[in-house]
Amino acid sequence: MGFFQNLNFSSANEDGNTELSALAGSRRILCLTGSGTRPLDMLLSTADEVVALDINPVQNALLELKIAAIRSLDYDNLLSFLGVARSKSRLSIYQQLRPELSPAARDIWDRKRNMVRAGVWHAGKWEKLLLWNSRFLRLMRRRDIKQLMRIENVEAQGRLWEEKFASSKLQTALEMIGRDWIWRWVMREPAGEFLPPPQEVGARLNSDFSRAARTFLFKESDFALLIFNGRHDGDGALPVHLRRENYKMLKDRLERLRIVEGGLVDLPNMAIGSFDGFSLSDFGSYSNWQAYEECWKGIVAVADLGARFCERIFMNDMPPPFEKIDVDKTLSEALTVSDKAIIYRVRTGKIHCGDNG
Ligand SMILES: C[S@@+](CC[C@H](N)C(=O)[O-])C[C@H]1O[C@@H](n2cnc3c(N)ncnc32)[C@H](O)[C@@H]1O
Repeated sequence: MGFFQNLNFSSANEDGNTELSALAGSRRILCLTGSGTRPLDMLLSTADEVVALDINPVQNALLELKIAAIRSLDYDNLLSFLGVARSKSRLSIYQQLRPELSPAARDIWDRKRNMVRAGVWHAGKWEKLLLWNSRFLRLMRRRDIKQLMRIENVEAQGRLWEEKFASSKLQTALEMIGRDWIWRWVMREPAGEFLPPPQEVGARLNSDFSRAARTFLFKESDFALLIFNGRHDGDGALPVHLRRENYKMLKDRLERLRIVEGGLVDLPNMAIGSFDGFSLSDFGSYSNWQAYEECWKGIVAVADLGARFCERIFMNDMPPPFEKIDVDKTLSEALTVSDKAIIYRVRTGKIHCGDNG
């Protein structure tokens, strides 16, 4: 089965607070679906509409399932259904939610009942990779990781990181998340093709984790929890939309979210209107230069004048292909440092001359 038919991302590995800051004030936001976390996080913005787009129908079906669950369940039952908390009744809850799904999503989840039974939250290939990686990390350093995830003070955390982690074998395990063979042969990701050589990946990840260790508490980062504990639970950090205090607002705003299938290149032909906000995740990870430029052409074609964008760059760093894409360097750097998903460069700014402007 090809990459764009698998469930690749299911929980959260991006910090929605970054997109909420970068796109503040946008009224109509286009957002790559992925795990569904970013579109759901964007419902906590003041946007009137969020359109979730993915080329992969399985990622869109995951978002449909999450929406049906949020609509019907209270907070604790939602966490149990998703697999963030324990449950023995996920399949019977799925039977209740099933009529709410489109025929295509129903068909996908009927075939993936085992995932539903185990909880979809940790079912993505990326989540499984992180779970295995965390098992390996804990095999090597269980005590140090426990200490790292309990620490209450950023300075002490920075020191602990330098002493116990920065120049230890643990780095090799961390580097695994950016190794090309992992992406090619485990994830079967097209992104494997565009990763830099291992030393460069290692140096990048080392410096990102060292900086993060000095900037915010790892226990407050849901991404760090996936890295070090291999999973989320109801007591630890969770993505913005999944926090108890935001649940009512999220439920009330579900009608603002719409899902469409397609690629960024297809945007001009999709008749879904224009946008003044774009949450683009790291689509460049999957693109050579030509494809990257084509995707941006699609985005620009449906951008309102002065539309805001927020892009994430993992390893495949390409410059913006058009002059009209105006990068706010100061904000981009600030958001890169504060982003609790640790491994991304954030690039944000405005599209100055959309075809609609
Ligand atoms: C860029 S990936 C990153 C996943 C993200 N970290 C998450 O957890 O949601 C997000 C999604 O973008 C989709 N995608 C990548 N390139 C795309 C494109 N050119 N058009 C539409 N969807 C795309 C992938 O299928 C994937 O589901």
